[in-house]
Amino acid sequence: MPNEQDPVPLQSPIIDRAERVVIIMAMEAEAAPLRDALGAQPLEAPVWASGLPCRLSHASKTRRRPDVVLAVNGTDPIYGVDAVGSTAAALTAHVALNLDRPKPDLVLSVGTAGGWLRAGAEIGDAFLAWPHFACHDRRIPLPGFEVMGLSELPAADLRSHASALGCRLGIVSSGDSFDESKTDRERIIANGAEVKEMEAAAVAWVGHLHGVPTGALKTITDLVDSPVATEAQFVENLATAAETLRSKTLALLECLARDDRG
Ligand code: ADE
Repeated sequence: MPNEQDPVPLQSPIIDRAERVVIIMAMEAEAAPLRDALGAQPLEAPVWASGLPCRLSHASKTRRRPDVVLAVNGTDPIYGVDAVGSTAAALTAHVALNLDRPKPDLVLSVGTAGGWLRAGAEIGDAFLAWPHFACHDRRIPLPGFEVMGLSELPAADLRSHASALGCRLGIVSSGDSFDESKTDRERIIANGAEVKEMEAAAVAWVGHLHGVPTGALKTITDLVDSPVATEAQFVENLATAAETLRSKTLALLECLARDDRG
């Protein structure tokens, strides 16, 4: 872990290649197709994390992709549903970045997200986070805390892969609610986000604590400003989105493994 003598600068390192990638996902339905496609095998959590809900798996490096640890938030032990949101995402990221394994080059928050008609989004669009993450529901009007609440943390610079993947680039804004309150809406318009979800900024914060650049790959299941209820759109589009997450994440991993340096 970095300490005061070893501050981690707030910057967006260019990530063209990676040997080791940690992927953090929230819902089992989002993660299952990717886990299967990777052939990832269960990975035992360290003893100190063995009671936590996160589900770890591992796929070794091949010629076509980096070594991958896939960490899914798991089932909430109290409520019996996927542990979505920032608290579980931070916990999962902390576990996955504290395994007894070499430090990864990149941590990726991968999952579904909402977009907006007003920003030209369409269902099925895929985004890479750029240039930063933000939070839209942490309002702390006290000196210093306001900025901390906004939590504008830099995204790993994955722009060189965007066109090969057919991904758009955009600010990813996280909050702990699936709906969009009037205040959320105002803050999202102010922060210029194109993607709304519930985990990426938390993963980026933990990535920063560990000195690991954080990127995000998100696919749009719902258009928040459409007249159709967001949750109905989400349910209808979740399975297709999970396939998109599988194919785009595999393609990104292939780009990161490609050695075309001669
Ligand atoms: N995940 C998918 N759609 C979402 C939305 N509209 N808000 C938050 N998280 C989401």
